[in-house]
Amino acid sequence: MTKSTAKVCTNGILLAGNWKMNFGKKETLQFLEALRIAPQLNAQMRLYIPFLSLESARNFSEVNSLPLQIGAQNISGEKSGAFTGEVSASMLQEIGIEHALVGHSERRQFFGETNESVLKRTVGALTQGMEVLVCIGETLTERNADQTEAILSTQLKLLLADTVCKEAFGKKLHVAYEPVWAIGTGVTASPEQAETAHSFIRAQMTEKLGYSIANATRILYGGSVTPANFKELLACPNIDGGLVGGASLKIESWTQLWNLIEA
Ligand code: PGA
Repeated sequence: MTKSTAKVCTNGILLAGNWKMNFGKKETLQFLEALRIAPQLNAQMRLYIPFLSLESARNFSEVNSLPLQIGAQNISGEKSGAFTGEVSASMLQEIGIEHALVGHSERRQFFGETNESVLKRTVGALTQGMEVLVCIGETLTERNADQTEAILSTQLKLLLADTVCKEAFGKKLHVAYEPVWAIGTGVTASPEQAETAHSFIRAQMTEKLGYSIANATRILYGGSVTPANFKELLACPNIDGGLVGGASLKIESWTQLWNLIEA
């Protein structure tokens, strides 16, 4: 496998954290205060955090000029109306939030998200000017049945065929490859496994969208990323950063990951 750091993607590396249902407002601000006093690099950093803390985190980040973007972990595809429990793009934008995660495997697994609903949320969010990171990835059963590529291609299919998405890929739409079997399990995909999946995803995008859009689209890897394995993953040509759960919750591991990214 190529150990080169030469990246296919022209858009640079991104470290993103997914806090899931962790940290209320108080802990969020404590974390950001620790980040504020940590030695800083210029590398881009983003945290997808619970809705309730978005506004204060975003304000803290802005007031203290942190190189940090704050994003939501989900977003409605609808503008407004009878959609109990949902949060719209305009509500997020009103508090200065421009980023949203869509289709995380926990949303697919526990909250009934499908490739169709992921498309709907993505298109709605993009139409309203948000930037979306859409998550795809196979389960262990699917991998063991040699279905990884078939699953990834099915998960990408609707997105790659949609006019709004086609226009947004590489600009406001990027992808996270998160093998479900690696999420929160401590079992990371090997750099070879991850690179194989990432280059497959890039090839699918190239086929449908052409080289320049495919190469402008970041493909982040997620699934048990830690400071111990991130560097090797980052050395792969098609891995453009990480989407990190557990290790984004501790200031030590988060700043270590951050330091592994060359500004
Ligand atoms: P993990 O989670 O790093 O804890 O495996 C990643 C994710 O779910 O985005």
